[in-house]
Amino acid sequence: METLTLLSALAVHTTHIGLTATASTSYNEPFTVARQFASLDHLSAGRSGWNVVTSATDAEARNFNLDHQLPHAARYRRAREFMKVVTGLWDSWEDDAFVYDKEGGRFFDPSKLHILGHRGDHFQVRGPLNVARPPQGHPVIVEAGSSPDGQDLAARWAEVVFTVQQTLEGAQAYYRGLKKQVADHGRHPEQVKVLPGAFIVSAAPRPRPRTSTPRCRTWSTPSSGSACSRTSSAWSTYPVTRWTARCRSSRRRRARRASSSSSPSCSPRAAHRTRSAVPAPDAPPQTVTPATPRAGCTNSLTWLRG
Ligand SMILES: Cc1cc2nc3c(=O)[nH]c(=O)nc-3n(C[C@H](O)[C@H](O)[C@H](O)COP(=O)(O)O)c2cc1C
Repeated sequence: METLTLLSALAVHTTHIGLTATASTSYNEPFTVARQFASLDHLSAGRSGWNVVTSATDAEARNFNLDHQLPHAARYRRAREFMKVVTGLWDSWEDDAFVYDKEGGRFFDPSKLHILGHRGDHFQVRGPLNVARPPQGHPVIVEAGSSPDGQDLAARWAEVVFTVQQTLEGAQAYYRGLKKQVADHGRHPEQVKVLPGAFIVSAAPRPRPRTSTPRCRTWSTPSSGSACSRTSSAWSTYPVTRWTARCRSSRRRRARRASSSSSPSCSPRAAHRTRSAVPAPDAPPQTVTPATPRAGCTNSLTWLRG
């Protein structure tokens, strides 16, 4: 479902949760994005957040008039200018600009209106935003860049940063580096919270998660592995190559076992049904679940393409 539409519906049925949607700076216009998140902020009484991404695949580009995505550096140049425009538009109106003075015939105080007048390499945006100042001022900005450009964008603008790190030492180095960059941009390091990603595998007491994880992986196939590498190569260092090699050998083992055993929980037949559901490389993203849900395991592909 389209995320901002969904979050707008959720806004009126919830009161406490934050409502953060992803919007790409590569395939949107800053005026539209500023307006959408300001509107969600009004609808939710100050609970909206924008996860800023630059998009990472040619598959996305092909839906937006391009054969290939823009080069990485070009995407981030556009993103930096995009951020200036969006945040500038959110500042179009001061908090108390609207006076609604019927008697005096004054809808707003003109001294509290600021025309952006932006002219840059990618955008020309005069402003002002045609939505009143968002209740939060600026909706919360979330970012997940991990390259130097991505981290710089986060350090300059974000309040929440997602990251996927594979080791404790790597995570600590990332944390220290990011906080330093935040300070270098003249912001207080505490203004930015770091949210490390985790891949959770839950299980009933037996089998334990530790034993379920490899079992779940046996459901993966070379196709799903390559789907993984296509959709998440930029941010997951999951060893897809080793994984797919393991899948091939585990399929051989399953095939050998097939004649003597027919485990209902992880049978070759069920694995085959899962495999046959894997979409062709150009098919639209979809969730693939095992034919028979089995307690205690999460289908990796569901997570990867979800
Ligand atoms: C938890 C998480 C969620 C992400 N979600 C998206 C997303 O929805 N869309 C997208 O284009 N990129 C997404 N990304 C990718 C990041 O925006 C970013 O491109 C990636 O971490 C690589 O960093 P870089 O752009 O600095 O090279 C996500 C990354 C992480 C860690």
